[in-house]
Amino acid sequence: MNVQQTLQATIDELVQKGKGILAADESNPTMAKRFKAIGVPSTEETRRSYRSLILTTAGLGEHVSGVILFEETLEQLADDGTPLPESAARQGIVPGIKVDKGKGPLANAPGDEITHGLDGLEERLEKYRDQGARFAKWRDVYHISASTPGRLAIETNAEVLARYAAICQMQGLVPIVEPEVLIDGDHSIERCAQITEVVLHEVFHALHRHRVVLEHMLLKPSMVIPGKDHARKAEPAQVAESTIRIFRRTVPAAVPSINFLSGGQTPEEATANLNALNCLGPQPWELSFSYGRALQEPALKAWNGDAANADRMQAALLKRAKLNGAARDGRYGPEMETSA
Ligand code: 13P
Repeated sequence: MNVQQTLQATIDELVQKGKGILAADESNPTMAKRFKAIGVPSTEETRRSYRSLILTTAGLGEHVSGVILFEETLEQLADDGTPLPESAARQGIVPGIKVDKGKGPLANAPGDEITHGLDGLEERLEKYRDQGARFAKWRDVYHISASTPGRLAIETNAEVLARYAAICQMQGLVPIVEPEVLIDGDHSIERCAQITEVVLHEVFHALHRHRVVLEHMLLKPSMVIPGKDHARKAEPAQVAESTIRIFRRTVPAAVPSINFLSGGQTPEEATANLNALNCLGPQPWELSFSYGRALQEPALKAWNGDAANADRMQAALLKRAKLNGAARDGRYGPEMETSA
């Protein structure tokens, strides 16, 4: 297979009806935060044992087509000695890898951030590919405040995302392009819509400049929602309508699938909002999920660091995967929360 055929084959496996992507690529500091909330120390072994349970959940492959892993996980083994990426692949779940090196302040742009990791990316991708990764993820963040995100942050982050995506395609890995407009703040849904439109417009302009093949990438954006400290929550129908309006203006039809992040929505909100998005009628792209917290939170609580809770933990994960699989086709209803 040439590179274009390899990329297309990966897209075909990742983009399937009723399925989405599981983000299990928390960096070690983020994992420490998640584990602290349940009173579990974050060590190489606790992270391995938790992720081994996730990736060996029977039936997960019926609702999840791909999993994004953290570098450490690529080299770890499941409880039965199988390399973790292979445990995923055996279930028909394509293994992918987070390749950005995290974010930090953007010089001369107070309040804005930039994502690091382009230096040496090409060589790192070769190594990840040898370890079984077939797609990659890079996340840029945008803070909404009275003065942010500024033009410099919008332009620089878009440029970096496009450079990353071009390098991935050159190496035969499908890039997931993740521009996240953060939920933090008290901004309105209208302000989120305005920022998201400008951000996506700039991102696709940069992807075009860098000659990224849109058919061979996935977009992982945030939904258009009010800030978490805003006075009123938006109903799923309003989130869906605002999101689709902005995306139809900015995301070319050549992009095969939009896989939303959950970004601090509760698991139930993230499922209801995805369902509403899929109830608005046919769109140029598939509308799916690439959730981290919204898939894992109930599982993490059920596990509580104790191997004896493995069955409950896997059942909790499978339930969220199944409900999001249903939301992917607009078949979810809140009554399924108790019957699933
Ligand atoms: P959340 O769904 O928890 O936002 O995580 C998705 C992700 O991959 C963030 O980079």
